[in-house]
Amino acid sequence: MKLFLPIIFVASFAATALAVSHPDSAVINKRRQLMKELAAHAKAIGRLIDRPNESAAEIQRRALAMRLLAKEIPALFKPGTGLDAVSSPRTGAKSAIWERWETFEAAARRLAIESDRLRRLATNAGKTQLRLQFSATTMGGCGDCHKTFRKKLD
Ligand code: HEC
Repeated sequence: MKLFLPIIFVASFAATALAVSHPDSAVINKRRQLMKELAAHAKAIGRLIDRPNESAAEIQRRALAMRLLAKEIPALFKPGTGLDAVSSPRTGAKSAIWERWETFEAAARRLAIESDRLRRLATNAGKTQLRLQFSATTMGGCGDCHKTFRKKLD
């Protein structure tokens, strides 16, 4: 028993060391968190959009938050943190991001621009126009970037 315990200790220590995550895990966790925040705002706006009169202020607040988050995207994709390089934490960032960096940056900028249009329309547009702009923000802003640059994690 006296011998056995230290062996277990050493073995579990080695297993922990193997599971240690990538040095850039913080940046990966942060960008995944940012994406979840974007999704929460988009989902909420999707619910509010049928009642634009009562919801204008909240749509504006959330669209502004999306614009600010969009501006943070490029800085969170440090080279060497894509799915080809890192297995822990998991990441769905395709290497195309760094191969086509300017296109990726442009996709983030597009989300910022579309979110800003949505914010401005919230107070003075009809439902139809607002819905169209919401599609431009989610399908054009989020979807176009995901199509090329994101592998969906299950
Ligand atoms: C400029 C490109 C780009 C834009 C714009 C973008 N995303 Fe993403 N998104 C990504 C990439 C790349 C990943 C994978 C990140 C990773 O796993 O490291 C991702 C991951 C996600 C995830 C998964 C998060 C998780 O659990 O790991 C969600 C949800 C998401 N995005 C929602 C959105 C929504 C909603 C929008 C628009 C409001 C949006 N994204 C805009 C590139 C983008």
